[in-house]
Amino acid sequence: MKPLIISYSFTGNNEALTQDLKKRFNCEEYRVTELKKPIGPSILLDFFIKRPPKVARADINWQAYDYFILVAPIWESGVASPMRVFIEQERDHLTNYSFITICGGEESQAEKILNQLVTAAGRAPKAFCELKVNDLLPSGHHQQARFKTFYKIEHGDLKVFDDKISQFVKETGQV
Ligand SMILES: Cc1cc2nc3c(=O)[nH]c(=O)nc-3n(C[C@H](O)[C@H](O)[C@H](O)COP(=O)(O)O)c2cc1C
Repeated sequence: MKPLIISYSFTGNNEALTQDLKKRFNCEEYRVTELKKPIGPSILLDFFIKRPPKVARADINWQAYDYFILVAPIWESGVASPMRVFIEQERDHLTNYSFITICGGEESQAEKILNQLVTAAGRAPKAFCELKVNDLLPSGHHQQARFKTFYKIEHGDLKVFDDKISQFVKETGQV
C-alpha cells in the first residue's frame, strides 16, 4: 500500500516540497482546503485574530491508505492552522503518520510543534522533519524575520535539503 501525502501550503513552499515527495514516495497528494472561497487574505485574517479556519472534510478513500505524510508550514511556532484543524477533524483516520515542513526556522520550536501534533492527532508522528529557510539564507540574514518568513523556495533550493528529506523518507519506512 502506498502512503498518501496530505498537504497545505499558503505561499507555495510546502507545495514545492510536496511535488518532490510525490516522486520519492511515488504516491498521490490530497490538498487541505478552506471551506470558504478565499476572498483576499481571509486565512491571514483568521491567523491574526486567532480564529480557527473552516476546513473542508476530507474527500479521501481512507480504506485505500494506511500511512499519511503531512506537509504544512509553521505559523507562530505551530502547525499552520488549516492543517491543524484538518488533523483534529480527521484524527481517527490518522493512525500512522509523519510530518514534514519547510518553515522559517525559529529556534527551539520543534517540541512545541510535536506537542501540538500529539494533541491534534492523539498520537505522535512516526517521523518528523523541519526544513529551515534559515539554512538557505546568507549568514547576514540568519534569524531575520523578514527574510525567513517571506522567502520563496527557488529551483535548486530543495537540493540543499536533500539529505534531510532522504533521512525523513527513510524514517517513515514507506520506501
Ligand atoms: C504569519 C506567518 C507566521 C510564521 N511563523 C513562523 C514560525 O513561527 N516559525 C517558523 O519557522 N516559520 C514561520 N513562518 C514562515 C513559514 O513557515 C515559511 O515561510 C514557510 O516556508 C511558508 O510555507 P508555504 O509557502 O508552504 O506557505 C511564518 C510565516 C507566516 C506568513
